[in-house]
Amino acid sequence: MANDTKQLDALLKEERTFEPNPEFTQRANFNDPAIYENAARDPEAYWDEQAQNITWFKPYDKVLEWDAPHAKWFLGGKLNAAYNCVDRHRQGPRKNKAALIWEGEKGGSKVFTYDMLGREVDRAAHMLTNLGVKKGDRVAVYLPMVPELPITLLACAKIGAIHTVVFAGFSAKSLRDRIEDANAKLLVTADASWRRGKQVPLKAFADEAVENTSVEKVLVVKAVGEEASISLTEGRDLLWDEEIERASREPFPAAEMDAEDILYLLYTSGTTGKPKGIVHTTGGYLVGVNTSMRSVFDIKDEDVYFCTADIGWVTGHSYIVYGPLSAGATVVMYEGAPDYPDRDRFWDIIEKYGVTIFYTAPTSIRTFMKWGTSYVEKHDLSTLRLLGTVGEPINPEAWMWFHKYVGKEKTPIVDTWWQTETGCAMIAPLPGLTKTKPGSATKPLPGIIADVVDDDGQPVEKGGGNLVIKYPWPSMLRTVWGDDERFRNTYFGKFPGWYLPGDAAHKDEDGYIWILGRIDDVINVSGHRIGTMEVESALVSHPAVAEAAVIGRSDDVKGQAITAFVILKEGYEPSNAMTAELKETVAEQIGKLARPEEIYYTAELPKTRSAKIMRRLLRDIAEGRVLGDTTTLTDPSVIEELKKQYQHKEE
Ligand code: WTA
Repeated sequence: MANDTKQLDALLKEERTFEPNPEFTQRANFNDPAIYENAARDPEAYWDEQAQNITWFKPYDKVLEWDAPHAKWFLGGKLNAAYNCVDRHRQGPRKNKAALIWEGEKGGSKVFTYDMLGREVDRAAHMLTNLGVKKGDRVAVYLPMVPELPITLLACAKIGAIHTVVFAGFSAKSLRDRIEDANAKLLVTADASWRRGKQVPLKAFADEAVENTSVEKVLVVKAVGEEASISLTEGRDLLWDEEIERASREPFPAAEMDAEDILYLLYTSGTTGKPKGIVHTTGGYLVGVNTSMRSVFDIKDEDVYFCTADIGWVTGHSYIVYGPLSAGATVVMYEGAPDYPDRDRFWDIIEKYGVTIFYTAPTSIRTFMKWGTSYVEKHDLSTLRLLGTVGEPINPEAWMWFHKYVGKEKTPIVDTWWQTETGCAMIAPLPGLTKTKPGSATKPLPGIIADVVDDDGQPVEKGGGNLVIKYPWPSMLRTVWGDDERFRNTYFGKFPGWYLPGDAAHKDEDGYIWILGRIDDVINVSGHRIGTMEVESALVSHPAVAEAAVIGRSDDVKGQAITAFVILKEGYEPSNAMTAELKETVAEQIGKLARPEEIYYTAELPKTRSAKIMRRLLRDIAEGRVLGDTTTLTDPSVIEELKKQYQHKEE
């Protein structure tokens, strides 16, 4: 389990509660308390009603067909996601409303009204069509946070092509794995990206990734421009700026997609094997993200909404692109780091644009806490009316800090639990209705039937267990790309008919859910999911490594940090140089985000009699609970001793 005992104790002793503010409730989109009960009684009727906020080219005939574990939603319905996110807003009073406000790391900004965004998307759709992209084709996207990123996604959606975004912090190898799995035909990338004033050479990574793959063309956005030096491969590489010039300025007709046609794939880490391509379809996904935008984020036409995630992750897909734009919101998108040029960048952006809703990650909040209050106090944040968090459990201390210094003790906080697989927020407060408790994501949203059950599937009255979702919901993943068996086993293997997210949770006397962390071998580093297996494979690919075990130890800022235990092969010695080299190997194979924080060398790994690595023991070692001084680790008798104490607990 992710949290250490101390954190867990603190979490479960938390007794502070915050009632919704009556003024907020009065104006809230969702302010009828009966909604929970009504939706629970008939989830399909609830979703049917919510789906009326989407524009359907052809209405659906049936809300749900559930042949567990396969769900189909809004059967027979025809729609287009880009039409819903852009075009329909161009026809009414939102035509000249700011859709996207982009803030560059270096300070420049660009504003796209809905009408302007529509023209950009249409032109990009013509361009992609000229490059041979058709409905159903996969387009890989490896871009920094520049406007061309959401424009590419929406252009794919307009054509009916399936986008698969790879976070720009991933390595060439990770990009290649995803391109190969998805069989992508086109890659959209950039010359380079800015990170804290330094360039990251994305095009060079892309070159390495696409060689001998299905990718026929590489389209290059000049995100950095003149200063970046790139080489272009004749016949394969094209520049966005040149191709867009060639593209028609005519409106692009939106492809009429079936509700169950795939909108996108997004890869995420699991316990075993390679990352899984999570499949999201058009109708259900859009209904899910659009509904939560209105319910959890209480979005209104006058809001200015800022989500600090990267579009490379699901949070950016659902809550920078499809959710807010489908709701006709004004979205602020920031290119760079929170501490560039200084540690008040987010607060500066909030003040500059008058942000009203701010959505970020607990790890960022803990970083702000470490930096001190002077940065946040320097800025006028009085426009804020709602705050949100996502990605990992929020410790009550960070919740209180957010409440006090950012929300000035008056804005509600929505702690939203969800996953790449769920598509939209699942467990979260409704800000006008739900009493909040710092550290708890509170209750399942209307239309979501979730519970905490023991290993036999019996509901837990009060206490810990497995989080399960007992009924389908519109934006659920439909399968794992190319591997339906993995989909069935991973998510529906333990409790047939119920979706298993893989998180442990605690239920309190009010039925509130406290997410405790993963029950599998997935590490959550600063809200990013990393499989221990992936890091272990990267380490053993190094010629010096015989065996490796990787765990997530608790970390005050990142939530979890990666610790590796390594057995070297004969003839290799531990050294600082070796440690640096091994860390670099992981960064090259997966990406910097997976680089171990520390590496311990050991002569053996503690294993159970059935040869399973005793990860809990390793975690205790890494967190300093059983060995004060880890330099003694190379002595095999130490591990043997420890193992004896742990054997009975693990088996
Ligand atoms: C964790 C991110 C506690 C959880 C949207 C989940 C959370 C995994 C929360 C999914 C939260 C996400 N409280 N834990 N509010 N939100 N998690 O797929 O372990 O990148 O299973 O999706 O993050 O991560 P993913």
